[in-house]
Amino acid sequence: MVANWKMNNTLGQSVVLAQEISNRFNSGYEDKVDVVICPPYIGIKPVKTVFDFDKCKISLGAQNVFYEKSGAYTGEISVEMLSELGCMYCIVGHSERREYFGETNNDVNRKAKALISGKIKPIICVGESLYVRENADPQAFVLAQIDAAFAGMDAFEAKECCIAYEPVWAIGTGRTATPEVAGEMCRSIRVKIAELFGDDIASNMRILYGGSVNVGNIDALIAQEDIDGALIGNASLQADSFASLFKACL
Ligand code: 13P
Repeated sequence: MVANWKMNNTLGQSVVLAQEISNRFNSGYEDKVDVVICPPYIGIKPVKTVFDFDKCKISLGAQNVFYEKSGAYTGEISVEMLSELGCMYCIVGHSERREYFGETNNDVNRKAKALISGKIKPIICVGESLYVRENADPQAFVLAQIDAAFAGMDAFEAKECCIAYEPVWAIGTGRTATPEVAGEMCRSIRVKIAELFGDDIASNMRILYGGSVNVGNIDALIAQEDIDGALIGNASLQADSFASLFKACL
């Protein structure tokens, strides 16, 4: 279960929420479900400090990264910087980054490769817009994003990645993909990964669904064979609702 806090929570709010989540996780969910929190950059270290103090095994992730090692890239953050903060994961290619910040498939590929060489696991986001869903071939669109994101990787690199299928029309809209639609796309993604890197890598790859996941729909979503977890926005911003989502994984 991956929480994407997006551009929410000040430093103080992040620490309070992290403490609330840690209390819930440490009361019976340790070692039973893998949970990752992706705060805004400034929250990563303070949230990790809360988890470390509590011996809470929730991992930290970032929401973005830049692929160059260092240099004159004002406003950007490198893999090494994330690593130093204790990040184990990083979201790449989120549809909001693609839409508002012009992130391309090629950027996603470069970011994913840079993360892998810095020993951070990329969570590669793919997903079609409403226009593509209604007027084109969503599967072809998403599989082309997968092809581009994994271009030039070998199996050793690919096995470090997770994938999140997030249909753009389902993000923050309250309109979830039906479990069948989401499950079918995740199945196609797994088949594609098997074609590219073999069955072993494909069957072990974590494929998540994201887009208006909440306590009312999580059970049906993760019951789908090819949905291994969820990438959660709104419902991760409140400790009780997020805890009910990771509890649903057991
Ligand atoms: P919501 O859960 O708010 O729809 O956001 C999904 C998402 O974009 C997670 O990355």
